[in-house]
Amino acid sequence: MSCVNEFNHIPVLKDAVLQVLKFAPSQPLRLIDGTVGGGGHSALLLERYPKMELIGIDRDDMALSAAGRSLNFAGSRVKLVRGCYADIAAVAVENGWDNVDGVLLDIGVSSPQLDIPERGFSWRNDAVLDMRMDRRSELTAGRWLNRTSESEMARVFREYGEIKRAGALAKKAVEMREKKPFAMTSDLVALSDAVLGRARAGELPHPTLVFQAVRIAVNDELKQLETGLRSAVSILNPGGRIAVISFHSLEDRIVKNYFRKESSQCVCPPGLPVCCCGHRAQLKLLTKGAITASADEVAENSRSACAKLRAAEKIG
Ligand SMILES: C[S@@+](CC[C@H](N)C(=O)[O-])C[C@H]1O[C@@H](n2cnc3c(N)ncnc32)[C@H](O)[C@@H]1O
Repeated sequence: MSCVNEFNHIPVLKDAVLQVLKFAPSQPLRLIDGTVGGGGHSALLLERYPKMELIGIDRDDMALSAAGRSLNFAGSRVKLVRGCYADIAAVAVENGWDNVDGVLLDIGVSSPQLDIPERGFSWRNDAVLDMRMDRRSELTAGRWLNRTSESEMARVFREYGEIKRAGALAKKAVEMREKKPFAMTSDLVALSDAVLGRARAGELPHPTLVFQAVRIAVNDELKQLETGLRSAVSILNPGGRIAVISFHSLEDRIVKNYFRKESSQCVCPPGLPVCCCGHRAQLKLLTKGAITASADEVAENSRSACAKLRAAEKIG
């Protein structure tokens, strides 16, 4: 099977995902792919494990249609659900599963979301400022830019875009929208150009950071991740495994800190003579640090350059 599916999204870190989501081959298995996308990773897992049943969740109706096509070969072993992975435990229960053996989260945007101009995720094409992963949601990027307070915009640009001149950017956004509301991706590029100018050689283009910040806010991506990790681990069987791929240092930090905390027997502040937190480890780490893409994979798929995979196993 080609690794480029019809959705035109190349799954990243495929070998590493198969290595950390490793199970006894003949065992009946239940796995939830919380970000099924075009079904690339799910297809690999379903092919590797003939007794695996899989629920694939995605917010994006286009992704689910693509996953329906690419996972068709697995027939009734696959159920696809439109929803958020933050609700993973509820989705499992609604589908009659109390527990699962594996969870995969490959978070962030897919290549088609970035490449289809009408989705409004990319600054490289002029299109309506949309950026919604779930197109049923009320909140488009345009609405977010036209309604959000200056201070909240500054926080988003600073924290999610790691943009130094976040305050100036938010101030200018308010000035601009008073003259003409934000409507098109070119309006947001104009804001970026007006305040941040051109990036220096070796830097990411500034609109990339501005668009990333707005996208994370519009889709509430960090809250999804924090809630989704807890929800996923709550339904893992003892010995069950969770693998998370992230593309942004903020996301990776959330995963790293959560895994570190849940693999620790005590989370008391340092220096206390006796433990008084009552915390008990529920995870064992499967990855020392994060796994990243090889030079060959990056050469084949530049998107993999930022990918970081961390994985853990639920303790019995
Ligand atoms: C990087 S792609 C996943 C690609 C997939 N692993 C594959 O091999 O085709 C990320 C997907 O996650 C979805 N997504 C992002 N945040 C989500 C959330 N909170 N809940 C459900 N789906 C989400 C996006 O719509 C997108 O389709």
